[in-house]
Amino acid sequence: MHNDLIRKLKENRDLPDAELAALLQTDEYDEALREAADGVRRARYGDEVYVRGLIEFTNYCKNDCYYCGIRAGNRAAERYRLTPGQILDCCAAGYELGFRTFVLQGGEDPYFTDGRLCRIVSAIRETYPDCAVTLSVGERSRASYEALFRAGADRYLLRHETADGTHYGRLHPPEMSLENRKRCLFDLKEIGYQVGAGFMVGSPYQTTENIVEDLRFLQALQPDMIGVGPYLVHKQTPFAEMQNGPLDLTLRILSILRLTFPYVLLPATTALGTLHPMGRELGLKAGANVVMPNLSPTDVRKKYELYENKICTGDEAAECRRCLEQRVKAVGYRVVTDRGDVKR
Ligand code: SAM
Ligand code: FES
Repeated sequence: MHNDLIRKLKENRDLPDAELAALLQTDEYDEALREAADGVRRARYGDEVYVRGLIEFTNYCKNDCYYCGIRAGNRAAERYRLTPGQILDCCAAGYELGFRTFVLQGGEDPYFTDGRLCRIVSAIRETYPDCAVTLSVGERSRASYEALFRAGADRYLLRHETADGTHYGRLHPPEMSLENRKRCLFDLKEIGYQVGAGFMVGSPYQTTENIVEDLRFLQALQPDMIGVGPYLVHKQTPFAEMQNGPLDLTLRILSILRLTFPYVLLPATTALGTLHPMGRELGLKAGANVVMPNLSPTDVRKKYELYENKICTGDEAAECRRCLEQRVKAVGYRVVTDRGDVKR
C-alpha cells in the first residue's frame, strides 16, 4: 500500500484529497516517506546543502498577524531598524564566510519605501554581482515588486500562510486578505522572481483539510522555494494559550513536499531547530536542502522574536556558520558555497 502512495507522489500524480489527508494523519509511512524523499533529494541535489544569510533588518511592522511576536499590537517589542551601512556590513561578513545568497527579511515597515529599499538592493547587487538577493518584506504593490526586481532582487519569500480563506481570517485581522496575498505571489512570479510560498504547521485552528488545500495551492503556484516550519507560541499575541506545532507532522510534510516537488528549495527552518534540538538535522533527513543562518548583528537578534526561545540569537555569524556546517556534516550532507539556484 505505502509503495503505491509513494509512487504516486513521486510520479507527481495527484493523490486524491482523501488519500493525502489519510497520509498526513498517520505516522505509519514516516520512515518510508523519509527514505523516498531523501532519494529524490539526492538524485536532484546530491548531498549539497545551500546556505542563505538571513538579515533581519527591521522588526517594525504595520500588520497585526495574530500568531506573530513582532506584530504591531505587541507594545512590549523593542523595535529596531538596521541602517544601509549595517546591512552592507552583514553582507560583507557573510560573503567572507561563503554566503552567496542574502535574504533581507523584515516586518512590513513603511519606513522602507521603494526608494530606500531599492537603494539598498542596488548597493548589494553592485557589490556582490555573484550573489542572489532575496527579499522577504511582505505584501507590496506590483509596481513596487517591479522596481525592486529592476534594482537587482532575484528572489522573494512570501508564505501564503494558509490557502483556506476561513482559516486565513482566523489568523489575520480583517484588513488582511488571502486574495491579496495570492495576488502578490502571482505578481512576483510573473515579474520573474524565483518565488517562495509556504505555511506554518500546526498553526491555530489548522485542519488536515487546510493542509491538503495548501498542497493544492502550491501545485497551482509551482514555487521555486517552499518555507514550511512549525508554528511556535509567542506570549505577547492573542494566541498565547495555543500549542506549538507538532514535530512529526512537520517532518512528514517536508517529505511529502520533496516527493511532490522534486526540484524545490526546501529549508530546514530555524523554527524547526527551536522546536527540537535536532530539528534542522531531522528536517534535512526528511528532504530539506537549505538552511538559513542568521547574519543580523547579535545585539538585534533577540528583538526579532517571532516566537519564543528562538535559537542562535547569541552567536556571531561565523560561529553559526561553523556550527551549522558541523551539524549538516554529521547527518551526511555538505554545506556548499553556491548561490543555490533551483534545479528545475
Ligand atoms: N513580513 C514578511 C511576511 O509577512 O512575509 C516577512 C516576515 S514574517 C515574520 C516571516 C514568517 O514568519 C511568516 O511568513 C510566518 O509564517 C513566520 N512566523 C511568524 N510568526 C511565527 C510563529 N509564531 N511561529 C512560527 N513562524 C512564524
Ligand atoms: Fe508583520 Fe509578523 S505581523 S512580520
